[in-house]
Amino acid sequence: MREERETPKPWKKTEVIGKPMPRVDAYERVSGSAIYPSDTSLPDMLYGAILRCPHAHAKVLDIDAREAEKMPGVRAVIKGDTNGASVEWPYLRGFKTKLFDLYCRHEGEEVAAVAAETPYQAWDAVKAIKVKYEILPFVVDERKALESGTPAIHAGGNRSGEPQTYERGNVEKGFGEADVVLEETYRTESELHTPMELHGCVARWDGDQLTVWESTQGVYAVQARVAEVLGLPLANVRVIGSYMGGGFGSKLQAGKYTIIAALLSKKTARPVKVFLTREETFLCVGNRPPSNMTLKAGVRRDGTLTALEFGCIGTGGAYPAGGTSSVDWLVRDLYQCPNVRTKLTDVYINAGPSRPCRAPGHPQGAWALEQMIDALAEAIKMDPVELRLKNIPLYSQAREGNPPYTSTGLKECLKEGAEAFGWNEALKKASEANARGGPLRRGVGMASGLWIAGGGGPPSTILIKLFSDGSLNLNMGASDIGTGTKTVMAMVVCEELGVPMRKIQIEHADTRTTQYATPSGGSKTVPTEGPAVRAAALHVKQQLLEMAGRELKTEADQLDLKNGEIVSTIDPTKKIKIANLSELKRQGVILGVGYRGPNPDKKVVNPFGAQFCEVEVNIQTGEVKVLRFLAAQESGRVMNRLTYDNQVVGGITWGVGLALTEARILDAQQTGKMVNRNWHDYKIPTALDVPAEVISLPIEPEDTEANTTGAKGLGEPVTIPTAAAIANAVYNAIGIRITRTPINPLTLCPLLARRRKEG
Ligand code: MOS
Repeated sequence: MREERETPKPWKKTEVIGKPMPRVDAYERVSGSAIYPSDTSLPDMLYGAILRCPHAHAKVLDIDAREAEKMPGVRAVIKGDTNGASVEWPYLRGFKTKLFDLYCRHEGEEVAAVAAETPYQAWDAVKAIKVKYEILPFVVDERKALESGTPAIHAGGNRSGEPQTYERGNVEKGFGEADVVLEETYRTESELHTPMELHGCVARWDGDQLTVWESTQGVYAVQARVAEVLGLPLANVRVIGSYMGGGFGSKLQAGKYTIIAALLSKKTARPVKVFLTREETFLCVGNRPPSNMTLKAGVRRDGTLTALEFGCIGTGGAYPAGGTSSVDWLVRDLYQCPNVRTKLTDVYINAGPSRPCRAPGHPQGAWALEQMIDALAEAIKMDPVELRLKNIPLYSQAREGNPPYTSTGLKECLKEGAEAFGWNEALKKASEANARGGPLRRGVGMASGLWIAGGGGPPSTILIKLFSDGSLNLNMGASDIGTGTKTVMAMVVCEELGVPMRKIQIEHADTRTTQYATPSGGSKTVPTEGPAVRAAALHVKQQLLEMAGRELKTEADQLDLKNGEIVSTIDPTKKIKIANLSELKRQGVILGVGYRGPNPDKKVVNPFGAQFCEVEVNIQTGEVKVLRFLAAQESGRVMNRLTYDNQVVGGITWGVGLALTEARILDAQQTGKMVNRNWHDYKIPTALDVPAEVISLPIEPEDTEANTTGAKGLGEPVTIPTAAAIANAVYNAIGIRITRTPINPLTLCPLLARRRKEG
């Protein structure tokens, strides 16, 4: 029963919250003793491997698995016509294919699967399955998907849903009122999530109960998908997440591999492990969609933005998967502008379906908008920080009713960030250095951003069991996706109950034993779960003080909890240790239950940020080196300064990847296949690509409205402005605007050469 309880007051001074605390599971993680799903090994376990279509676009005419079935160690081969395997796989907008569909619309689409005693036997058998394909013409360039004569991927053509449009004010009138109107096209390449731990699971049946150990951001989301696809009651599907080695949005749902593992396990009556290879994850389990954007912007000499018009063609691959999700959000909401029009066109290509990827759509939109703002500033001879400061909104213009933000620190991010970075001095120094000539050119650049989400709820439920010796269990359904969620939650408990961190045992991410939670995504886990943890801790505290009041013969509201002791606030000699409470000894535990209430009505909870960087460009080799970065992030309260700073470094690293190194390459000429499906040919940033100096400057407004912790979420907000800030710095260094990612010697040298020729 959910009894009425007082909403906790906002924290004033905190003892634990905000401090830099190492992760509660740091030892397990670095020593290798943490058991990740990919480490799971069960007695009698078989290994699964999946046969995938090698063509970009093909129809399966015939599958002959007779030879494979007879090979050593092979225990099962399944395909679309296998009993029980003819299930459907859902995409967005209600679109479904078969799990093993005879019509393959992208390279890597699942055709059949094998379970065998060893992974090698499974792969040998996969190779021995003979498939006859009818190879079809393909399209892998979304810019050509709607051209006439392009092969259609679906019966209705290559449009993925109707274009989405948004409009406010009068854009034509706005451009008419501008002193300067600029127009530019931009492109960001498709990025791959490529988490350290591959995608996969171990599945095991016990009668009609299925247990899945999966590398996932959300065990309840996996449970729901598995139950839906296999037609099982939710209660019969147990998903265990425990540790997981990165997801970045690509593990918010079950994969086809989850279903395949379950089917193979059912057929063989043995546990089956299916973990994909790196190549398979590149092809099949998501990507950040490529974005082809146009942006027209009008500004007056005084810096007032008069109109913005934005268009984007994107693709979620071969199926409805959100190819243009949120790409226009920053154009709609980051700056004060009365006249805005956007249009998003999502098309199909013969490529693996996209999945949410680190602040979906936002880094792409920032790449366009934040470079445009930079160009407008130059055109009206205004400092780019100043121009942004002139256009800061205090409410959300793109949402119905223009609701205000609970807090917006964008102004402080810009001002304090510029100050701490030494923006003016750095600009001056760079231009002086460049005037001296030579191959190395310096540049500084900046950009800002906001993130569309900021946590929410319900649902979020937390249980805390305080034992009679003062140790406790914290029970939550949410996954810790590597960001330090468990640590932050333990700190919240610590703050309220004064129990030392080492006495807190955390059970999480198990649909059988832990509470319901939505997946850890959208940078919402801390602001969503934190308030529920706080409520559960306060529930324990209330019961504990009442119990101590009975024992000390005093009123509970005259008692306080400090270092495992309950002390009278009036007479400090009146005190008792938790471990000495006789009633608690008899009762065994105090159970605290905490729920997450809703976010404030008619207000918006969003994080903001501004970033500043300095680069060095070698105009002979086209190399770009990011020298330093400063991120001024406003995500409400800082919960743990150490994991906070970790997220800042992580977000900037992602942005360096988008700006400088990462791009999925599909062979548009001959095969339609991905040509860089490995960590050698697809370059993620390494330690050498990330600036040695990354400064995290938290801007902490007192946000008493966002939720009862005041935190708004940090992970994704950081990566939104980074790539654009780098592009602006490169422009500052060499005077060439690079509108397409990635900025690398291959793309930069021709531009430098052309300029040398043109003089
Ligand atoms: Mo988020 S797209 O779940 O990293």
